[in-house]
Amino acid sequence: MREKMLAAEQITALKWQDKQLWLLDQRVLPLSQSWLSYQSATEVAQAISDMVVRGAPAIGIAAAYGVLLSVQQQRTNPDWKLAVAADIQQLAASRPTAVNLFWALEKMQAALLPAATAAEAESLCLTAALGIHQADREANLRMAELGLQLIQQGCDAPQQLLTHCNTGALATGGFGTALGVIRAAYHAGLVSLVHVDETRPWLQGSRLTAWELAQEQLPVSLNIDGAAAHLLREGDITWVIVGADRITAAGDVANKIGTYALAVLARYHDVKFMVVAPSSTIDMSIESGADIPIEQRAAAELLQVAGQPVAAAVPAFNPVFDVTPAKLIDAIVTELGVVERPNLAKMQALMGRTALH
Ligand code: MRU
Repeated sequence: MREKMLAAEQITALKWQDKQLWLLDQRVLPLSQSWLSYQSATEVAQAISDMVVRGAPAIGIAAAYGVLLSVQQQRTNPDWKLAVAADIQQLAASRPTAVNLFWALEKMQAALLPAATAAEAESLCLTAALGIHQADREANLRMAELGLQLIQQGCDAPQQLLTHCNTGALATGGFGTALGVIRAAYHAGLVSLVHVDETRPWLQGSRLTAWELAQEQLPVSLNIDGAAAHLLREGDITWVIVGADRITAAGDVANKIGTYALAVLARYHDVKFMVVAPSSTIDMSIESGADIPIEQRAAAELLQVAGQPVAAAVPAFNPVFDVTPAKLIDAIVTELGVVERPNLAKMQALMGRTALH
């Protein structure tokens, strides 16, 4: 099983090579596979804002390498600490919702703390950034095993699953969170079909998830987001499985816009709803999902397709995440364990009552 899962790592969103960060440009997938190289934190912050790299864990990993690039660049600057701190601020301002970004920056700041010289800081940062990347790969493996157990408990026949956005190798340091569980279930003979929401407006589902699954010959069917109610009423889907950008201490989940609607639909149609995310996505400093900052992106994402105007010239509302309340979630799967029917006490028990952020 592990070997089959690791084969999915042939697809990767980012790599550290020749003292540079390399990102697979997700804006142009699947039509072209183009690797871009980055030498500074400013460039990495821009790449995160522009969604060259996206998906909560991948954003955190890219930001960690961004701090390493900053330290490398400031090697000969006597005021390197101030310059690196300014770069960290820039990286923190790149996108607001995925807490993995801030989690990774805090880890990098802590790693830097004991450094007396920039050379020392560079070596500490390299170890920390590679560690964050590797820990995410390992978390993916553990979550895949735990999520698979949940699916097996319900039924041991091949099933239909539905997912939203992209939570695979392109969104993480490994082979994925929700998509990792789906991959594991497929390799265990438990998947007859994966329904993939197109995921308007950026099309993470049709451009990225469908591409990842097709590369591995998983059975995939693409649908527009608005078809989910119709599909779930048919009664053939057993689980909706999604990722997360930020999970509060009470178990509320911010994820790609449209996730909340799916959770309401799943509950109405008696379909189980699973959220898969590493503990770096859990923000114990916030209890209510209402306090999660929701990113709004440009109206052009709705008014244009591939740069061509397609809509009436009107104002457009484009929040790119929404919040699903804990009470609509059957299970949150993390590498630390599974929380069924999440609430504050259960999330605190999972996280050892620690405030991470
Ligand atoms: O705007 P994006 O593409 O960064 O949004 C990504 C998502 O919402 C994913 O579902 C989430 O980050 C989990 S990725 C493992």
